[in-house]
Amino acid sequence: MDYPEHNDLLFADPKAWLDEALRFRSPLITTGANLAPREAMQAQGVELAPHTPVRIMVGAANRDHAAFTEPDRFAPHRPQARPHLAFGTGPHTCIARHMAHGQTKIALQALLRRFGPGLKPATSPTWTSYRSQRAMETFPVALS
Ligand code: HEM
Repeated sequence: MDYPEHNDLLFADPKAWLDEALRFRSPLITTGANLAPREAMQAQGVELAPHTPVRIMVGAANRDHAAFTEPDRFAPHRPQARPHLAFGTGPHTCIARHMAHGQTKIALQALLRRFGPGLKPATSPTWTSYRSQRAMETFPVALS
């Protein structure tokens, strides 16, 4: 709703819209420490011994300037060096990612079909973060 200029894309290319929303406001801030290098490696100048548990800071990785042009802007179809990490990666990538995509697409398309551009934020949302998640707590809207 903050970017109504992209509303049409939710119907024309829902995957691109949803992937950008997941990158921009990643619901999981960090993964569990269930990834580990098989061999010794260096990451950003830090030495990692084999089998060192590693967490991906998903929210930060999804705003990485090295991977995304103008990462603090909601811009589906931007050029990007790698996919977003909102569903994690590797063997523990989210098992329900396709379902989450599908349900969100259906819900948002139904909302927009019903209320269209008359649906606007009334105030800014409030956010809650507990453990590794970040979720919207309240989001008052106005209908015109
Ligand atoms: C937008 C919604 C969702 C997001 C952003 C999300 C994100 C993630 C992420 C980042 C991971 C990797 C965690 C890690 O590496 O430690 C993960 C794993 C997982 N997710 Fe989701 N998830 C979502 C919805 C769901 C739902 C609805 C379910 C179940 C119905 C689910 C089930 C799982 C399971 C079982 C794993 C663990 C997979 C494994 O360890 O092999 N997720 N999810």
